[in-house]
Amino acid sequence: MGSQVEQLRAWWKEGSVYQVYPASFQDSTGSGVGDLKGIISRVDYLKDLGVDIVWLSPIFQSPQHDMGYDISDYRVIDPPYGDISDVDLLRDKLHERGMKLVLDLVMNHTSDQHEWFKESRKSKDNPYRDWYIWKPPKYDADGNRCPPNNWQSHFQGSAWEYDEATDEYFLRLFCKEQPDLNWENPAVRKAAHDVMRFWLDRGADGFRIDVINFISKDQSFPDSNQQVLRGSEYYACGPRCHEYLKELGAILKEYDAFSVGEMPCVHDERELLKAVAADRGELSMIFHFEFMDVDHGANGKFSPKVWPLSELKTKVNKWQRIMYDNNGWNALYLENHDQPRAVSRFVHDDPENREASAKLIAIFLAFQAGTPFIYQGQEIGMTNVPKEWEMNDYKDIDCLNHWNLYKDSADENTKALLKTEYQKKSRDNARTPMQWDDSPQAGFTTSGTPWMRVNDNYKQINAASQVKAPDSVYHTYRRALEKRKEHKDVFVYGDFELVDEENDKIFAYKRVASNGDAALIVCNFSKSEVAWPSPVKAKEVLVSSDGKKLDHVTGDRIRLAPCEAIALLL
Ligand code: NOJ
Repeated sequence: MGSQVEQLRAWWKEGSVYQVYPASFQDSTGSGVGDLKGIISRVDYLKDLGVDIVWLSPIFQSPQHDMGYDISDYRVIDPPYGDISDVDLLRDKLHERGMKLVLDLVMNHTSDQHEWFKESRKSKDNPYRDWYIWKPPKYDADGNRCPPNNWQSHFQGSAWEYDEATDEYFLRLFCKEQPDLNWENPAVRKAAHDVMRFWLDRGADGFRIDVINFISKDQSFPDSNQQVLRGSEYYACGPRCHEYLKELGAILKEYDAFSVGEMPCVHDERELLKAVAADRGELSMIFHFEFMDVDHGANGKFSPKVWPLSELKTKVNKWQRIMYDNNGWNALYLENHDQPRAVSRFVHDDPENREASAKLIAIFLAFQAGTPFIYQGQEIGMTNVPKEWEMNDYKDIDCLNHWNLYKDSADENTKALLKTEYQKKSRDNARTPMQWDDSPQAGFTTSGTPWMRVNDNYKQINAASQVKAPDSVYHTYRRALEKRKEHKDVFVYGDFELVDEENDKIFAYKRVASNGDAALIVCNFSKSEVAWPSPVKAKEVLVSSDGKKLDHVTGDRIRLAPCEAIALLL
């Protein structure tokens, strides 16, 4: 066991990742949009927090229909963010501090303004025609033109867009300005490989890879019988997905580069495991969506669902076991630019419990087996947008497309329910500007008008005040990351064991190293105080969200305040 564990060590297992959403991180010019120079100015903040890998959401040239996930040139930086010399400088600043730079590779689709697509749509015999997925229309019994099949876009409506010039439809699983590339074409795969090499040669240390399990579509393009996200069963981990991932994996290996693939809509965990198992040569780790779907109701994301803690326990335990037992690796995340804020979603963001809840998230996440991902603002416990926001405060295409389906036709009650769900789950929740301090616009921009409204609570929740306060959420993250590294054999390479599985308030787990060293993490997800019968004796309090010392945990019970979390070395 010992030597096997040795072989599996990797730099990206021992580090933690911080995700920057460039538009909302730090504006250095007063344009109202964040930029690379702004990120550079905050590198020391990130170093002090203790993160090791900085992942930038897309910074490439883009018409920004989907916040840069629609790329029109993979080698050019979108001018509002700066230029390529800023990327070089950021890379150097990170590398000087022993940190890594990870870029976002979005190659399931491009922007419709990419030269490849502009060519492709010109004519059926254009050399780039086969770089995208074109199909002739179907016609119904009345002779009406219809899309080639019933697949649905992730952003509402059909996944096919009609193009008059050549009387064909192209596939676009996201918005109509995001045509899907045809990975069946070897020239497309070669182009993706070239983009990877371009950035790896320039010193990038790896990639987060957007919807990477969508790249291989069932070539018979059958109609779907699913109710939600029709068609995804025919392209999520499609027939040639792993073959293509192995090609990417070979390049990543040459550079000892890191990769995390985003993999939504997967129902068979064996597919996910294949993508990350150590002997397969595909990716370092993947983002699965099981925790993200926990509050999605019968009609998808914007329908309500109440979930018990036991559901989260089952899911966490499942993924911890799958990866540990099969030489895979977990990407540990509870937030990103597509998800609401973890403190609002998984615990309690009311004024009495918000701070404790945000600390709980830190401790809960950082000590699990896998690489922790922290999304900008998570480290200070940023929350969802206020309930009072009007629809014109929301900016995200996914949320607005959904609203457009209902705003003129639905009754007032339905509209009110939808607004409740948007405030809980819209991607906008994560995209409000970073709350740096209590100055106007939270120190995000010097201009009066940030591209997106700042969350009203920035005077109470901001980085400057938390860096100064030793018991803040920020310092809870900092300490948790520090302890994770200090006890690497336990927290990075150790086994995971769920404790007190039946308890509906407490989420407790143990981590055990191969040499027997162990730790216990206890998180009170409830709003009530709990006297928890502790099964073990502790040697040291590693992190406590409530300032507990060893004396407080030596009896047979640990008294946990509402939303309190504690990590103990045994
Ligand atoms: C996943 C990205 O995280 C999301 O922001 C984007 O809208 C879609 N993929 C399409 O690229």
